[in-house]
Amino acid sequence: MSVIPSNGGQPTGARPATRISAIRPKVTTSTIFEKKQRREPITCLTAYDYATARLVDQSGIDMILVGDSLAQVVLGYDNTLPVTMDEMLHHTRAVRRAVRSALLIADMPFGAYHEDEKEGVHNAVRFVKEAGAEAVKLEGGAQRVNLVRRVLDAEVPVMGHIGLTPQSLHKMGGYKVQGKDFSSIERLIKDAIALDRAGVFSIVLEGVPREVAEMITKEVSAPTIGIGAGPGCDGQVLVFHDLVNLTFHEPAKFVRRYGDAAALISNAVEQFKADVESGSYPSDAESYHLPKETRAELEAILRRKEMKAYAK
Ligand code: KIV
Repeated sequence: MSVIPSNGGQPTGARPATRISAIRPKVTTSTIFEKKQRREPITCLTAYDYATARLVDQSGIDMILVGDSLAQVVLGYDNTLPVTMDEMLHHTRAVRRAVRSALLIADMPFGAYHEDEKEGVHNAVRFVKEAGAEAVKLEGGAQRVNLVRRVLDAEVPVMGHIGLTPQSLHKMGGYKVQGKDFSSIERLIKDAIALDRAGVFSIVLEGVPREVAEMITKEVSAPTIGIGAGPGCDGQVLVFHDLVNLTFHEPAKFVRRYGDAAALISNAVEQFKADVESGSYPSDAESYHLPKETRAELEAILRRKEMKAYAK
């Protein structure tokens, strides 16, 4: 007699196959552009996996970026440089399965567009075709204009990224706020205008003085999305792990922590450990039971066995 339940042994409380429906209208690059025109703040967060992407999307965030910060906050590297196209594609696919409404942007990793424009276009197309991204982000200003045009020609919307661009870590000589002197301010403004003219649908401004970010925001038609660029941008982006204290280091000046996932997770894990060690987990209510008749039969078999052993 089989004791395997008719559902094949699946725990009765198991989740059904994932099925999620749209909870709000789809955000597109036009939505983002219109928000700038209506002066409505634009929200963007990073996500790298199914569970967090689903929560971020359901919270009504406009854009989800699978950032190359994946390298640091998920994969444990010191900087963003080592993360590969394959790793970025893998995580973008996971996020794609979760996101219904937010605009999904994939970050082009270091090396995916630096050597050859043709390869850059190819990799941008891979994000759309193989991972379901709706746009790509790439770092750099005027020097990327040709590439931006070619990616747009391939029907892939582009988000620009200027200021403190982490992929230029070695060239910048560290993570330094950009645009602090006149020549640097001029260069940033030229970069922003060049990207705007090339047709990017938004521009990330990272690590620049708020006054410079405000000037750029007024100067370009593309929405500016700030990170460490003050309140004058059209929108703001943060790394999800910074928001919920999962980065294991002192946050940068611009980070505001909205939750403490580290404390929440540590607490849960410590309680689980203590409960297993004390024998209080799992309880009877958390255990599966035999059907009544099977149990009675089993007890009778065991009793007969005991009696036989006793008789010997
Ligand atoms: O990789 C990333 O998370 C980013 C954002 C900080 C803009 O590039």
